[in-house]
Amino acid sequence: MDVLRQLRGFYREKRHYLLLSILALAAATAVGLITPNLLRKLIDEVIVPLKFDEVPMLALSVLAVVIVKACLQFAHGFFGGRLGNYLAYRLRNACYEKLQFLSFRYYDTARTGDLMSRLTGDLEAIRNFIGFGFAQLLNVFFMVIFGSVMMFSINWQLTLVTLITMPFLAVVALRFESKIHPAFQEMRLALSSLTTAVQENVTGVRTVKSFAREAYEVEKFSHRNERYKDNQIFAAELWSRFFPMMELLASVSVAILLGVGGTLVIKEQMSLGELVAFFSLIWYIIGPVWGLGFHINNYTQSKASGERVLEVLNQPIDVRDKEHALDLDASRVKGEVVFDHVTFAYGNKMPAVKDIHFTAKPGAVIGFLGGTGSGKSTIIQLMMRAYDVNQGSIRLDGVDIREFKVRSLRAQIATVFQETFLFSSTIRNNIAYGMKQVDMDDIIRAAKLAKAHDFIMEMPEGYDTVVGERGMGLSGGQKQRIAIARALLKNPRILILDDATSAVDMETEHEIQSGFQEVMRGRTTLIIAHRISSLRHADQIIVMDEGRMVQSGTHAELIEVPGPYQDVYRIQYADYLARAGGRGEGPTHEA
Ligand SMILES: Nc1ncnc2c1ncn2[C@@H]1O[C@H](COP(=O)(O)OP(=O)(O)OP(=O)(O)O)[C@@H](O)[C@H]1O
Ligand SMILES: [Mg+2]
Repeated sequence: MDVLRQLRGFYREKRHYLLLSILALAAATAVGLITPNLLRKLIDEVIVPLKFDEVPMLALSVLAVVIVKACLQFAHGFFGGRLGNYLAYRLRNACYEKLQFLSFRYYDTARTGDLMSRLTGDLEAIRNFIGFGFAQLLNVFFMVIFGSVMMFSINWQLTLVTLITMPFLAVVALRFESKIHPAFQEMRLALSSLTTAVQENVTGVRTVKSFAREAYEVEKFSHRNERYKDNQIFAAELWSRFFPMMELLASVSVAILLGVGGTLVIKEQMSLGELVAFFSLIWYIIGPVWGLGFHINNYTQSKASGERVLEVLNQPIDVRDKEHALDLDASRVKGEVVFDHVTFAYGNKMPAVKDIHFTAKPGAVIGFLGGTGSGKSTIIQLMMRAYDVNQGSIRLDGVDIREFKVRSLRAQIATVFQETFLFSSTIRNNIAYGMKQVDMDDIIRAAKLAKAHDFIMEMPEGYDTVVGERGMGLSGGQKQRIAIARALLKNPRILILDDATSAVDMETEHEIQSGFQEVMRGRTTLIIAHRISSLRHADQIIVMDEGRMVQSGTHAELIEVPGPYQDVYRIQYADYLARAGGRGEGPTHEA
């Protein structure tokens, strides 16, 4: 019930709809009970005494009852629909907003498919239950209670004998539900694994083909397809057993009623009208009992769905603004970055970076070099406060970055990530992402600096060309250059480049480099690269290994001392060094 209480917060303003929908349905149930009474009247007081002139009146009354009942049912649907959709709308917005503000740590473990199903299927289950299911579950009890009371008032002995099968009916219905429910669950899983197979195959078709694994994929699919088919057959069999069983039990009730009731009528201990009324009342009870399992199940399922949705909404945000956090004033930021003996671990694992310490003067360029997994990306994630450090601190202009509002800190930083993400929109919108009112001239200037302008102009619609959700139709290097243009347009105080030119050729890289030199002037820049040519102009180069800083200095200093930097340098400049006949200051210009 705790779940339902929490959900109530999302429809509090419209809670009268819930009441109206329940009341309307209860009223419809009550009104429906007039019909058996009218039937009894028709038989006992009109047909049997042959009072023809009263027939039209009674027929019209039946019609009136039906019309009123229909109106009340409409009201139930109307208010239930309003309520359910209002709730779903509020929940959807709340979830989406929450997803925007959840920290990176949440997304490290979250699975896309799972989040999607929470936002669609689970929300739908909640909408249905709060809107309709809840009122209908209550109505089952109204029907059974109202119906039995009326039957008792006609003939209590007959009521007792006919209702004898009801507990059995209820047991069968609940048992069926307890079997069909897991079967459906299983079916849903089988279907989702089937769709996953299709989806992965479509997106990964190149990998499948290049490894010539078509036959394997076909077999994998047919395996899953078979599992789905078996599940379907199992569920169909359950259904096909359930209905005859229920029908049989219900018929026992009806047979008892006709046998005992018929005898009573012949003995004149009961009127014919009462028997007919009784006969229609019994269905008033059988129907809801059949549906009981369904409604209860609906309840448990939507409760589980509610828990899954609330889990997202109640997720704590670990990187958040302090109380009285400072607003970074863009015009005052100088850009001095200090890493003061920073240590950080993802989760409970070994620290990904240990004791990182360096000072970047305003406008300085700090380069990072190191093997894969050595902690380079982690350092820049910490800089933009994707995570908070475990030990030590990071300071911007002398102030711990945890003192600033997260938004205002990130507004000063532009990052080109290792993996480029482009939105499914035009190139222009992708470059201007997140900026209001940008001049086309500025976009073009940024694109030129990123060496993206030329290839953009060659695209069918230039800057208005739409690129797909993963930048379809663009090469890796082209995507990177758009991401660089995006970062440059932001005109940040701090620029972070994580392997930003890994996918472009040496020549283009060199051209982008010279573009960078221009925009990096006056900006503090953290640059990660695998090519020494990208780092050699940095004011300080930090060499990382297994999360630690193993070397630090300028290019000129580092090539002089034996160590990893010199090794990398020798490998990358082997040709040049061979031609120069030994070690030297290194090439001044590389292409
Ligand atoms: N989101 C994450 N959750 C858990 N562990 C992570 C996460 N990201 C990185 N790691 C781990 O932290 C360590 C450092 O990773 P990091 O991404 O900083 O390396 P890197 O130097 O950028 O490597 P590369 O050159 O391959 O990009 C690795 O051992 C990695 O497995
Ligand atoms: Mg990395």
